[in-house]
Amino acid sequence: MSLTATVPFSTLIREASHQQHTEAENSSFMSDMLGGRLGVAAFRAYTEQLWFLYRALEGTADRLAGDPVAGPFVKPELFRTAALERDLDHLHDGADWRATLRPLPATETYAARVMEVARDWPGGYVAHHYTRYLGDLSGGQIIRGTAEKTWGFARKGDGVRFYVFDAIANPAAFKREYRALLDALPADGPERLRIVDECKRAFALNTALFGDLGEAVTRPRG
Ligand code: HEM
Repeated sequence: MSLTATVPFSTLIREASHQQHTEAENSSFMSDMLGGRLGVAAFRAYTEQLWFLYRALEGTADRLAGDPVAGPFVKPELFRTAALERDLDHLHDGADWRATLRPLPATETYAARVMEVARDWPGGYVAHHYTRYLGDLSGGQIIRGTAEKTWGFARKGDGVRFYVFDAIANPAAFKREYRALLDALPADGPERLRIVDECKRAFALNTALFGDLGEAVTRPRG
């Protein structure tokens, strides 16, 4: 029997992307930022780029809500754009950040891919959805704790609201249900493997973004 028939899809996608997860987690930008070797400007720069990315993920969600493959994953309690905007208001001391913010090249590439799959391939959208939101609910909590300690944000307050899912009372139960949705995905074996490949691509897009961020924060714009 094939792998996709014997292994639950949630297990397959997690295990198949394990290596890419390790690479993203250990990128120098992430380890320098979370190791306290970069200032709060690095955290702000990361939050800014996430704003572009989540607008791509969430600006297309309405259209996908009725889709049989992607629709079940479109859950407003996950939406992060409003939280990111509150964080950015705080991180910019209330200044008009929208007027000056620009996506880095890697962010543009990443957001363009998200919008492309949102338009043409719901299974691909699921891959990107999983990579970001399940990560935010998991390792994101470690990032929040470190950011609070390192830069003195109020616990679960302004600056780190992106990592706080107020509308999800029980994250462990939510993740279990999310994995059950992955397991029940109406997609055959070859399509499931394509989705796994897209998940690896999503991780690589994150790693590329960390590369751009690393350069941007160590070589500030002149
Ligand atoms: C320093 C950065 C990171 C740390 C410390 C971290 C840590 C973790 C941990 C501990 C888990 C397992 C949690 C659990 O089993 O419930 C996890 C899961 C996950 N992380 Fe990360 N992570 C980091 C970065 C990332 C990045 C950059 C992404 C992708 C954008 C990501 C995506 C995921 C996903 C999708 C899962 C869920 C795996 C699954 O259970 O299916 N993580 N992370």
